[in-house]
Amino acid sequence: MNLLLDEIAVATSRLADAGVESPRADAELIAAHVHGVARGALHTVPDTAFDPRYWDEIARRAAREPLQHITGLAYFRYLELEVGPGVFVPRPETEVMTGWAIDTLAPMDVAEPMVADLGTGSGAIALAIAQEVPASRVHAVEADPLAHAWAERNIARCAAAAPHTAGRVTLHSGDFAAALEGLDGSFDLVVSNPPYIPAGSWVPPEVGEYDPATALWGGTDGLDAIRVIERTARRLLRGGGFVAVEHGSPQGAAVWQVFAEGRGWRDTQCHRDLSGRDRFVTARLDWKDEQS
Ligand SMILES: C[S@@+](CC[C@H](N)C(=O)[O-])C[C@H]1O[C@@H](n2cnc3c(N)ncnc32)[C@H](O)[C@@H]1O
Repeated sequence: MNLLLDEIAVATSRLADAGVESPRADAELIAAHVHGVARGALHTVPDTAFDPRYWDEIARRAAREPLQHITGLAYFRYLELEVGPGVFVPRPETEVMTGWAIDTLAPMDVAEPMVADLGTGSGAIALAIAQEVPASRVHAVEADPLAHAWAERNIARCAAAAPHTAGRVTLHSGDFAAALEGLDGSFDLVVSNPPYIPAGSWVPPEVGEYDPATALWGGTDGLDAIRVIERTARRLLRGGGFVAVEHGSPQGAAVWQVFAEGRGWRDTQCHRDLSGRDRFVTARLDWKDEQS
């Protein structure tokens, strides 16, 4: 054992007592962040290099500040994104929907697939698609000025790290309802992880106190934004284009119904996340609806 590993063991039980879900992983990741080493190299930090600021950061996590706000970074598919106050921390379940979008776009016989990401937050979905679907053109829409600023920063960061994404994500300020007017009928795919938590629901402190309210709450049944997105996606897509919308796990049937009952949709399907829970709905705009 060395000093840092001993301190990590103490920090782990402090985080567990505070109700943190993954105390060991968080104690190690904060140690790696503070000491500037990879998680797998923590045992190599000499006792003389132990940084007591570790305990300041552990205190923040014990107060239920999200790990990603402490490290300033979130990982999403193959991306490293900057996050902090004012922006929603991207979640692993959204990686599954983004993977569906990427798998759907890849075989399309379209030279430069056009994609809209409604409510882009950190830019996670938009940037992952730009990174993984060569030649895609992604239009990312965000209403919240603070989140918009984080997206702007991440778009620049990714352009530097992965130059092939440079210039392929265009960020717009705007609302779901009026998003991308002027580009109606030109998108191959519309994707969104909108706010969908029903008003008054319990959420953990990491979510309720740190994710922005505009990213979370979706009205009485949680579906207010999803109903708007159904109409906007119908306006933006070309005939045969696809939509994918994330939702809360109990909302699968209700969101399926929003699309199944909406005019012009076909092949409406429910999809699960990696833990087997309903997580997103996809549909395809009928070709006949294109001109109506
Ligand atoms: C759940 S977060 C998702 C962020 C990001 N797409 C992700 O998956 O990590 C929802 C995002 O939608 C934005 N948003 C909420 N209402 C909006 C609206 N009416 N128009 C545009 N963006 C909106 C929020 O500010 C927030 O950034």
